[in-house]
Amino acid sequence: MLIENNLEIHLKRRPVGLPAKEDFSLVSNPIESLKDDEVLVKNLWMSVDPYMRGRMVDRESYVPPFALDAVLEGGAIGEVVESNNPAFGVGSKVASMNGWRQYFTTTGKDLQLLPETGIAEQAYLGVLGMPGMTAYTGLMKIAGLQPGDNVFVSAASGAVGAIVCQIAKLNGCHVAGSVGSDDKARYLEEELGVDAVVNYKTCGDLQQAIAKACPDGIDVYFENVGGAHLEAVLNLMNENGRIAVCGMIDQYNATAPAPGPANLSQIIIKKLKLQGFIVTDHWDGYPAFVQQMGQWIQQQKVTWKETVFNGIEQAPEAFIGLFEGKNTGKMLVKL
Ligand SMILES: NC(=O)c1ccc[n+]([C@@H]2O[C@H](COP(=O)([O-])OP(=O)(O)OC[C@H]3O[C@@H](n4cnc5c(N)ncnc54)[C@H](OP(=O)(O)O)[C@@H]3O)[C@@H](O)[C@H]2O)c1
Repeated sequence: MLIENNLEIHLKRRPVGLPAKEDFSLVSNPIESLKDDEVLVKNLWMSVDPYMRGRMVDRESYVPPFALDAVLEGGAIGEVVESNNPAFGVGSKVASMNGWRQYFTTTGKDLQLLPETGIAEQAYLGVLGMPGMTAYTGLMKIAGLQPGDNVFVSAASGAVGAIVCQIAKLNGCHVAGSVGSDDKARYLEEELGVDAVVNYKTCGDLQQAIAKACPDGIDVYFENVGGAHLEAVLNLMNENGRIAVCGMIDQYNATAPAPGPANLSQIIIKKLKLQGFIVTDHWDGYPAFVQQMGQWIQQQKVTWKETVFNGIEQAPEAFIGLFEGKNTGKMLVKL
């Protein structure tokens, strides 16, 4: 037996509304042996991301649903601890989509070797990984950010949002955002130089609060939340504004269809452009993104925060925490 007690998280039942810990099970799945061309990877970090909620529902989407009573999938960073494949020596750090488990074996086809940059390895699940790439793609390519734009970002202190804020500031924009706590608002204003932040939970009238935070209107809205946020922002968009529709986390746990914004005619009146996007469709741009983001990080122009849960047993709690605002920056599980 190679690994006797290899713990994995399985999806036990499909969540209804906010996921519960009982929707998941902790299962031991021993690893028997290593085949000729295989490597054994010990996961060090795994990512939990809001999109995983969509995969827990049995419906057609841009990715297939997770199977019940099977190990979940998601981004992970691991270390090769045994190797029969010369392309992945023992000690190599690798990225994969084989999260939610402590160990796995593979021929290496589904592994990407991490470059040795001196940047913490888990950054490849956040600022240098899918969330950072989402922020960059959504802002630069989908919204066509221009220097001096007035930008508004929802879920602004999260893995994607906090990077959006910083890229927009680097482009000389006025940047405002919304968050669910005063601590998060302080982080954005004091550490990231965001011009104004709305706490959507305590601000009273959301539209009035966003209007105050964006005195010259909004040219670019980076949409992470949907619902009341979208309705308020549509009324505040400037002519020819652009909305990059990245996510609608307000609706991911809805048990009934959410009412649509009552003011979609603003799109016509203001000649707005709204575009949804899925970051994986833009992955050919990843090398250019990593080069640019790596440079910003080395120059200390972009920083990030992590919220870390410890141990695979905590992964469901970390995932559920995304919908309760428990993270500032990237939500991670250290295995
Ligand atoms: N299109 C793509 O390819 C793509 C790729 C990655 C991510 N996304 C989307 O981007 C968004 C952000 O993802 P992320 O990974 O950066 O997550 P995140 O922002 O790090 O974490 C989620 C945050 O959303 C906020 N939130 C949760 N429920 C909310 C609600 N009902 N209303 C308002 N805010 C709520 C919470 O912060 P507060 O305390 O501020 O409420 C929470 O911390 C998500 O919608 C995700 O689905 C899309």
